[in-house]
Amino acid sequence: MRDVAAAGAPTGPRVLPRNDPRQYDDLAGEWWRPDGAFAMLHWLAEARAALVPPATRPDALLVDLGCGAGLLAPHLAGKGYRHVGVDLTRSALVQAAEHGVRVVQGDATAVPLPDGCADVVSAGELLEHVPAWPRAVAEACRLLRPGGVLVLDTLNDTAVARLVAVRIAERLPTVPRGIHDPQLFVDARALVAECARHGVDLSLRGIRPQVGGMIAWLLRRARARRTAGASPAGRAPRIVPTRSTAVLYQGRGIRKG
Ligand SMILES: C[S@@+](CC[C@H](N)C(=O)[O-])C[C@H]1O[C@@H](n2cnc3c(N)ncnc32)[C@H](O)[C@@H]1O
Repeated sequence: MRDVAAAGAPTGPRVLPRNDPRQYDDLAGEWWRPDGAFAMLHWLAEARAALVPPATRPDALLVDLGCGAGLLAPHLAGKGYRHVGVDLTRSALVQAAEHGVRVVQGDATAVPLPDGCADVVSAGELLEHVPAWPRAVAEACRLLRPGGVLVLDTLNDTAVARLVAVRIAERLPTVPRGIHDPQLFVDARALVAECARHGVDLSLRGIRPQVGGMIAWLLRRARARRTAGASPAGRAPRIVPTRSTAVLYQGRGIRKG
């Protein structure tokens, strides 16, 4: 056991090791709450979906690795994909199915789907949770048809990412305590190299929540909690590009023929 989620944190009474997947069961009621523990995943899903092109053929398939409760689904509406989600966590998959995702319980490092079946593979906030992330990258690339698109976002393996995403963000209500193991963060250069080995030229860009929107959201949320806990009204913070990939970054690439 490397580290534990802090006792008394909003993960409930159980104290689990960092990155223990059972945390997603304890947090199952949080997925679809816009001001809940997974709020930032909603913002990131919108930004990720913006990288997904409209489908170019009938029956096009998008495979969503580590789909969680299917937060990507509303942002894909109208793009023309069948949305298949793969995840380890059954309690999350039940909710994904309720939001129109066809679900497969499985490991992103050994996906029970055929080679070249996907027009798009998405791996949102997944790789930094997978000890053998190169295996998950190999699987993502294997699933893509030639010309298919890989989209992903993850946390970089840097000191600043460990500071911002763990030490600071876990004190804010946007990131559950203990959800990340910083030892699993994904070196951006190694990720690009791994994708290239599997026929995908990945382009990266740094991203972050827009600061003003984030502060307004935190204030609205705190006010709502003080006044009987209604969800905050108003737009969720936007995820915007940033020059540095040192903390959070998106990747997009096309599978070669
Ligand atoms: C931070 S959540 C992200 C969920 C979703 N992609 C989103 O952005 O809303 C990470 C998800 O990855 C799943 N996960 C972690 N390791 C996995 C693995 N090896 N294979 C499949 N899913 C995994 C967890 O169960 C969890 O649902």
